[in-house]
Amino acid sequence: MNMTPEMLHETIYRESAVLFALDEVERRLHRIAAAREGLCARLAGNLIRAGGKRLRPLLVILCGGPGSDREAVIDVAVAAELIHTASLIHDDILDGADIRRGVPTINAVWGNHAAVLAGDFLFATAFGLLAGEQTRGAMALMTEAVRAMCEGEMEETESLFQASLTEEEYLAHIEKKTASLLAACCSAGALAGGASPETAAALAAFGRNLGLAYQIVDDLLDFSSDEGTLGKPANSDLGRGILTLPVIYLLQEGSHRAAVEEIIAGRACGPEDFARIKKAAEETAALTYTYQKALHFAGQARDCLASIPYLPSREMLLALADRVVSRKN
Ligand code: IPE
Ligand code: IPE
Ligand code: MG
Ligand code: MG
Repeated sequence: MNMTPEMLHETIYRESAVLFALDEVERRLHRIAAAREGLCARLAGNLIRAGGKRLRPLLVILCGGPGSDREAVIDVAVAAELIHTASLIHDDILDGADIRRGVPTINAVWGNHAAVLAGDFLFATAFGLLAGEQTRGAMALMTEAVRAMCEGEMEETESLFQASLTEEEYLAHIEKKTASLLAACCSAGALAGGASPETAAALAAFGRNLGLAYQIVDDLLDFSSDEGTLGKPANSDLGRGILTLPVIYLLQEGSHRAAVEEIIAGRACGPEDFARIKKAAEETAALTYTYQKALHFAGQARDCLASIPYLPSREMLLALADRVVSRKN
């Protein structure tokens, strides 16, 4: 089909509306981060200012539709980033992580006590933004997502160092801890933007599959990247007992099973053990298998968009599904 001037203008209008909305979210986040009163606000503000990919607000805005600059969509987008940031602060306590977004974690500098409170402070700030009439649906979706995230993190904790962990169990954990929030961002954005319940449900399915792909790539990057690139610890999941897909593959594939089981049973996977497991992963199809799974879920995400008759941000969401699996940080 030939591109007409009208079509060209429409695309540019749509993309600038998204950029405008993202700018507004960023301004609002920085205003929240600038609060000087109280230690919780200051500590949480430092992490907000440290940046991040802002994937969740982007999903809210893209799914919010052409009127993405409307107040309710922006409120949901800001709340989504705050919920995500709060969950990172708490996740870093659970993981004992000392770096996040390239800066020292709150738990590393101020201790777990302060980090629990700073995370709670951000959750409360986020839910305060969703308390209005226009965001009632988003409030229900976001609270459900946070409940699922807690259960996902809890189930992951219960399965630490369990060599019997299956791929299905792993997928169920990451669906709860990561994909549930991405799904909620999509459906809450859609509802706040005035979409039908059918469209919101299809976008939730898109977000869920995107979230599975996102976490599988995150787990792959933990395996193959480094702290400088990621701005957070690398090669660290296994040492903490978190068994991700490459390791689950090795445990099932056979040739390295005994060696991997022995390392896991030792509960102290140091750099040499990690290097052995990484070599085993490279010698087998473990990393390719894992990446194929991420591609599979990104493909499923794309397919979920097919049933939506009118979706102005379709091309951008499709491009996002590609970026999620090609990302390097
Ligand atoms: C990190 O999320 C936690 C995961 C779900 C993997 P992001 O990779 O979106 O982190 P930021 O927001 O860019 O720091
Ligand atoms: C995702 O799991 C954490 C949340 C969903 C909050 P990870 O533990 O893999 O995330 P990172 O690697 O610390 O960002
Ligand atoms: Mg973590
Ligand atoms: Mg990780």
